[in-house]
Order: sequence, then C-alpha cells, then structure tokens
Amino acid sequence: MGLLIRGGEIVTPDTRYKAEIYVEDQTVTTIGKDLPVPSGTDIIDATGKWIFPGFIDPHVHIYLPFMATFAKDTHETASVAALIGGTTTFIEMCCPSRSEDALAGYHLWKEKAEGKSACDYAFHMTVSRFDQNSETQLREIVRDGTTSFKIFLSYKNFFGVDDGEMYQTLILAKKLGVIVAAHCENAELVGRLQQALLAEGKTGPEWHEPSRPESVEAEGTARFATFLENTGASGYVVHLSCLPALKAAVDAKARGVRLSVEVVLPHLLLEKTFAERAGLAGMQYVMSPPLRHKRNQPALWNALASGLIDAVGTDHCPFDNEQKLLGKNAFTQIPNGIPGIEERVSLMYTYGVNRGRLDLHRFVDALSTRPAKLFGLFPRKGTIAVGSDADLIIFDPTYRGVISARSQHINSDYSGFEGFAVEGRPAVVTVRGKIQVRDGSFVGERGRGQLLRREPIVNCGNA
Ligand code: URP
Ligand code: ZN
Ligand code: ZN
Repeated sequence: MGLLIRGGEIVTPDTRYKAEIYVEDQTVTTIGKDLPVPSGTDIIDATGKWIFPGFIDPHVHIYLPFMATFAKDTHETASVAALIGGTTTFIEMCCPSRSEDALAGYHLWKEKAEGKSACDYAFHMTVSRFDQNSETQLREIVRDGTTSFKIFLSYKNFFGVDDGEMYQTLILAKKLGVIVAAHCENAELVGRLQQALLAEGKTGPEWHEPSRPESVEAEGTARFATFLENTGASGYVVHLSCLPALKAAVDAKARGVRLSVEVVLPHLLLEKTFAERAGLAGMQYVMSPPLRHKRNQPALWNALASGLIDAVGTDHCPFDNEQKLLGKNAFTQIPNGIPGIEERVSLMYTYGVNRGRLDLHRFVDALSTRPAKLFGLFPRKGTIAVGSDADLIIFDPTYRGVISARSQHINSDYSGFEGFAVEGRPAVVTVRGKIQVRDGSFVGERGRGQLLRREPIVNCGNA
C-alpha cells in the first residue's frame, strides 16, 4: 500500500517547493503535482507544514560503559525518543575500551542494537588501541559496512590513543577510504590539571571546566589537524566547543586539510554557569569538552551558519541523577554526558531558524544532508528525492511546547534543556515509508530499524 503526502512544502539544502510525495516499498517513487491516488493509498495532509528529509544525528552514545557505570538508554528508548524528535537515523559511537578486543566490541554493539532500534542506525568504530591485530580487525569492520572510525585524544588509559596510535589509525583510514572522527583534548594536560585542582580541595562540578580549558581543546584540535595534514587522511572534529578550537579548525581547512567540524546542542544552547550550580544541579551539566563561557556561542552559531562548522550532533549521553552523584566528592568521578537526542531538531529550529541564526536550508543541511554526505549515507538518506529512503519529517511550525523531563522518552530523570520553550515539532515522522510518530507519540513498529551498511567514501584505496 502506498503513502501520499500532500499540501506540504519540501525543504532541502538547495530548494524549497510545494509538491506531493508518493512513497512505495520504503522509498520515494514520485514527487510532483496532482499525483494519481491508487486505491488503498494512505494520505497525509501536510498543509501548512514543512517536509524535511529525516534528520541524522551523527554523534550519540547509547550502549556505553564509561566512568564506572553505563549510559542509561537502551536502543529501544533512545530510538523512540530520536524518532519523536525527528531523528530517523543516528550514528552511535561503538566504544570498546583500550583493554577490550575491538572486533569483539564491534559485535557486542551490533548485538545490543539488533532488532531493538525503531529507527535506522550506523556506527563509528572507536580505535582505542592500535596493535598488531588492529589492521586486520578494522579491515573486517569496514568490509561489514562500518566506514568511519573514532579516536579519543582524551580519556587516557581508557578510550584514549597516543600520537603514534593516532598516526597509525589515520594511515589505515586513508588507505581504506574511511573518515576518522576525533574527540580533541590534550589528555596529559587534562590529567595534570585535574590532579592539581583536586589537591587544592577544588572538588565540585564548577572545577570541571577549568580542568579542561579552551586552550587544551585548541591544542587537541590543532594536533589532530596536523596529523591529518601529514597523513592525507580525512577527519571530523566532534563536539567542538570554543573559539580557540574553532580557529585551529578553520586555519586547517584554509590550508586544505580534509577536516570537517561538528558542534553539539549543549555547546550552542547551554553555558558553563549551568555546571557551576551547586551539587547535583551542576553535576547534571558535566560533559567533555565542558560547557564554555557564553562568549563562544556567537562564533559557533556564525560558523555553523556559514558552513565552516559542518554538522550538528547531540553527543547524547544520558546518566541519571544517581549516576551523576558518583562524583559528589570529586568532579573527576562525575559521569560525563548530557542527553539531547530527542530535542535537537525542535531546539535548533527554535533557537537557530526562528531566531534568525540559521537559514532554513542550512538547518536541513547541518542536521541531515551534510552528515549523510560525510558518513556515506547520501543519497539514500539526507535528501528528498526519487529513489531515496522515505524518511520524512512533516514538521509543524505552529506547535508550541516546553521541554521537561516529565514528558521525555529517553531513560533519564532529568533534561539538560528543562524549561526551554520550543516552537515547532514533527507532526508525522516516517522511516522508510512507515509512519512511526504522530503528534509527539510513537505509533509505529519497535525494532524495525536497520543497521545501515556504508561504502568507503573518501580517498578510496584498496580495502
Ligand atoms: O561528556 C561526554 N561528551 N560524554 C560522552 C563521551 C564523549 O566524550 O563523547
Ligand atoms: Zn567526546
Ligand atoms: Zn560523544
């Protein structure tokens, strides 16, 4: 049975036009005016609504053993929340630690998600150690369709790699045509600064940011860019949070380094005073890189609007209040992370598009099309075109609401965006032609999501 969406206005990065969309067998088969309506066709009236391509969150954590605990979501909870918020595909960080076998970790992450996610998904494969098995294992993972790697320059002795391992990872990535995402902070400096602060009795969450200052992130970003420059690999800086790091990334781009940049929701909308609140209220806002001084935000928004920052993710990483309290005696023990998978689209529409910071087309580009292109999902995902997957967001710009932990669908007992007003939300969300969400409620099929196999996309070499 087909699905017809009529009355709405389609928006992509380059165009905006009123047309009808006909969907059959999970893909868009026709776009036009006055399309025939075969009997049995489901019809959605999208009058007064935008039709966006399904949004892609390029940076989430769902299954994550980290900081003596586990992130709270399951693939069931996170995917339903993602869909309600308009995200039809997420890319999860597959994060085995340095002491684990990478291939075993990859299979474990796949098992955790399989048959559980309601939306489509892919993985970035973390390289947390580079040893004699890495090349064989990573080649197998790339052959399996996971064509992006992740490295951490922070979290020493857990996820973190040293410069030698970063070099080896980038050389292999270049050979395989794989892009490498990187968390860019200087691990040595973070460790030293943390110890110095604790030794002075500075134990509260307000000391998290001073332990990872902007210069520490700028150094990591510049170093990653220098390694890309000297290996010819392609890279993607995740969760860039501040002006000095942005300068390092923009300088690198200007000299031709193959570098793309992501900003995440918390760094655009929250600021370090949130983490300076006393006790648990501050701990809820501890993430890395930390929430920064708000003077950084205009530069981040401007770079996003102009495309110097390529994509917007969430770094969704929920820990509940009890878990945050693991760090009540020392900020270094507070599980790092803030959730956001459910709110990204509506918040970016409200505080980006509606506040004049982001053009509507760039909004679609940064939250859907650019991630699809960077990570080998385009044109299957990230656009509305004949032959593309029918992942469609019928977005109601007249909706008004307020974010609250009481109404969220993720598995956490607080929201980092509590009390934020939203102007607009998805009215209908389809994944490969099936209606999964209507008016803020999940009405679809759980476990329907597919792992997306991707082809290598950059500098293609011999895989
Ligand atoms: O604080 C954060 N960002 N938690 C998740 C792990 C990471 O660094 O992305
Ligand atoms: Zn990170
Ligand atoms: Zn992350």
